[in-house]
Amino acid sequence: MAGFGPKKMGLHGGPREKADMKSVKKLFAYCKPYFPSIIIALFLALVGAIATIVGPDKISEMMDIITSGLTQVAGIDMDEFMSVVIFLICLYAAGALAHYIQQFIMAGVTQKTSKRLRTDINKKINKLPLRYFDTTTRGDLLSRVTNDVDTIAQSLGSTIANLVNALVLFLGVLIMMFTVNWILALVTIGTSILGFMLMFIIIGKSQKYFSRRQQNIGEMNGQIEEVYTNHNVVKSYTAENDVKKRFSDINNKLYENNFKSQCLGGLMHPLMGFAGNLSYAAIFIIGVALILNGSDAITFGTIISFTIYARLFSQPLTTIAQSMNMIQQTAAASKRVFELLEEEEMIDESQKKVHLNENDTIGSVEFRNVRFAYNADKTIINNFNIKLAPGQKVAIVGPTGAGKTTIVNLLMRFYELRQPRLIINGEMTDYKVFDNGKSIRIMVNDNKELFINDEKTKYHISDSDNLPKNKILKFNQDFNLSADNEDISYKATIVTGNDIDYPKSYGFAVAYYGYIFIDDVPTKSMTRENIHDLFDMILQDTWLFDGTIRENLVYNKKDVSNEKLDEVCAAVGLKHFIHTLKKGYDTKLNNNLGLSEGQKQQLTIARAMIKDSPLLILDEATSSVDTRTEIVIQEAMDELTKGRTSFVIAHRLSTIKNAGIILVLKDGDIIEHGNHSELLAKNGFYAELYNSQFAQV
Ligand SMILES: Nc1ncnc2c1ncn2[C@@H]1O[C@H](COP(=O)(O)OP(=O)(O)O)[C@@H](O)[C@H]1O
Ligand SMILES: [Mg+2]
Repeated sequence: MAGFGPKKMGLHGGPREKADMKSVKKLFAYCKPYFPSIIIALFLALVGAIATIVGPDKISEMMDIITSGLTQVAGIDMDEFMSVVIFLICLYAAGALAHYIQQFIMAGVTQKTSKRLRTDINKKINKLPLRYFDTTTRGDLLSRVTNDVDTIAQSLGSTIANLVNALVLFLGVLIMMFTVNWILALVTIGTSILGFMLMFIIIGKSQKYFSRRQQNIGEMNGQIEEVYTNHNVVKSYTAENDVKKRFSDINNKLYENNFKSQCLGGLMHPLMGFAGNLSYAAIFIIGVALILNGSDAITFGTIISFTIYARLFSQPLTTIAQSMNMIQQTAAASKRVFELLEEEEMIDESQKKVHLNENDTIGSVEFRNVRFAYNADKTIINNFNIKLAPGQKVAIVGPTGAGKTTIVNLLMRFYELRQPRLIINGEMTDYKVFDNGKSIRIMVNDNKELFINDEKTKYHISDSDNLPKNKILKFNQDFNLSADNEDISYKATIVTGNDIDYPKSYGFAVAYYGYIFIDDVPTKSMTRENIHDLFDMILQDTWLFDGTIRENLVYNKKDVSNEKLDEVCAAVGLKHFIHTLKKGYDTKLNNNLGLSEGQKQQLTIARAMIKDSPLLILDEATSSVDTRTEIVIQEAMDELTKGRTSFVIAHRLSTIKNAGIILVLKDGDIIEHGNHSELLAKNGFYAELYNSQFAQV
């Protein structure tokens, strides 16, 4: 019977279903800690099934006692009758108890598994790089956490035990029937097979709708999330019709797939019921015919027991059918869940030892040979190099899409400077980079064996000039390292053994993905958290949370006095406003307060002043306020940037005139640099940009 599963897979064959079975296997492995509980539950399922199988035999015995009692003068043998009845009661009670305990255990396993899945997903989400969220909607993510996990839980709770119960029941009944009477056994099986075949067809047809349904639910959540978070935009662009149409398309698809799967699923019960009733009729007709023909082996009790067997025989078939459906759904759901759990994570940083203390950081920043692409087919930053002295203020200007925000993303390590692809003999090859802060080693497939000159070799590629020569086995081939879409060939050196520490082999690595240093420490060697602690960031979109003004201002900082609050609020021009509020700093921030964009921005600037980090990023901080407010904020920002190494990105060039150095970025390249007057004198791109803005005002 178990053989049907895989065979059916074969029928509709295809890599997708294979992948689905893989997900089921993964789920299986995931449940390993619960195997002892599951095994006990399965054992109990077995006990329940055995009780069910033995039952009819005892009923048959009971019926025979009654029928023989009715035809004999002595009447029914009450002692014998009662002993069978009591045995039956005990048997069924034991079966029921076993069933209950089994369900109890499985409920525990189910809830533990789904809780663990949710925890793991939650942890995973925190480890995913921002890159992941560029391509996945929150709704889809949500549906993986809720819907798919639920599906898995439901299925775990019932499917495994039901399946075992059904299989045992099926085999047990089969054996019992054949030992009692093979003719009736064949009749029962024959009629049941009819139902079985119907069921078989239905499952085959319905499974694809189930997996489409799961996908539709994800799409729908994504769509809802997208529309509701952008409600204003949708309204203002009167895109409602488009949105409605897209929604109704998905909704229709969901309806259709749901309807089809339910319809087909719903057919199962009536058809199986019909097949079952058909077998009752057949058993009675053939059974009576056998008795009339004088067969000794058959009694009235036998016929009764066979009607029960017929039911018991088709019941596991239905269960198995449903379980198959459930397994399909589970496979689809676990595929989605494990897909998420196996997504590439941000680099684990628990081993990193370098730590820059916020108070000791002097704040020099260097970008060295930084190259970056979000997607391999389009390089955004070509070769970015700047060196900022502590306290220096750099302004980055340039047209939209030039890569200004990208520079910030890299500095904050929201996006990682990516490793280039390594191509050996034209084949993409995995490799690991070992970076201890002083030297870098690259190891190609460290567990894949490589043979060179019949010698098993683990190999590193490194800058050959800096390597201890005696340990090098020269390999006369150029290794092709491609940085994004740019192919660069490098001489490779093969080194035998894998524990050699090179004195210094930055050589080629620097050329690829570049470095960003803070106080001469590569940001790669620090934890992201450490980096974020060193920065204050003020963006175009202000970020304020539900809470009082005070809570928003002192965010994460302890022991901030009212005097300090007054001081910074005065500096950003908010003090007067806050003092007009009845509750002052303890006023709750909510929509009723009706803060303007400018005031919100003033609050975030004040927050940054309180946090007092050594490094500062202002990315289009004044872009969403009017020019008058901008003047107020401008003063606050000038105050804020004092003594801090600052990156100021601004659209309106009037705001960055006083920056020590201005970088003009275009298509990922610094095309001009200098201070305001130098750049104007140059009469190049910057001058053009400045004059065009000046002309507008
Ligand atoms: N998350 C992302 N994924 C893919 N491309 C992106 C992403 N963010 C920005 N880009 C692209 O990178 C380029 C530079 O963007 P950005 O740094 O935001 O420009 P700027 O801030 O100068 O306006 C643009 O072409 C933009 O489309
Ligand atoms: Mg930008």
